[in-house]
Amino acid sequence: MQLFLDTASVTEIKTMWEIGILDGVTTNPTLVSKEGKTFDALLREITALGIPSVSAEVVATDTEGMLREGRRLREVHSSIYVKIPMTSAGLKATKILASEGTRVNMTLVFSPNQALLAAKVGATYVSPFIGRLDDQGQDGMELVREIVTIYRNYKVPTKVLVASVRHPMHVVDAAKIGADIATMPFAVMEKLVQHPLTDLGLARFLKDWEKVPKG
Ligand code: G3P
Repeated sequence: MQLFLDTASVTEIKTMWEIGILDGVTTNPTLVSKEGKTFDALLREITALGIPSVSAEVVATDTEGMLREGRRLREVHSSIYVKIPMTSAGLKATKILASEGTRVNMTLVFSPNQALLAAKVGATYVSPFIGRLDDQGQDGMELVREIVTIYRNYKVPTKVLVASVRHPMHVVDAAKIGADIATMPFAVMEKLVQHPLTDLGLARFLKDWEKVPKG
């Protein structure tokens, strides 16, 4: 499973990219608003690092506006995936952008039928928001299971990008189901690395090493 960071922070992206565990980045208007830089400046900085997949979201709500923004965003860098919301206007825009060869990440997906439609119009990624479903008292991971099953039934090439990930168990469960990608905040990706027994074990090895005669 590919691991993406859900952030617009260049510092966070650089940290994980340099460790070598990062496959891509997803941004959204909320994340971009926290950085105090223009959208284009941020995208140029992120893509300059060499990240192979960077999702950049349109803010227009009509098809024409989405097409205009999507066509402009894809020109910023070859690694840009255009993020389009799951609405009728978004489906229409996705169909046109996909036919032009633009890779679309269809976002704000909360039902299996929405995922079926995203695949039908040629989205490259579909983004079910699992944490936000959990927040509503609905099992977000069940949605991932349903989408993966449906896509397998029909050999759909659209990749399932699990979004709104809140903790490491979301990542484990997404991987067990066979989702293609999980995108997560920096703090969650940090937790994938850490385990208290690793720290304890390392401390003990280093302590015991002091007893080994040197020379
Ligand atoms: O980027 C889309 C999604 O991952 C947002 O997550 O935590 O705001 O529900 P969250």
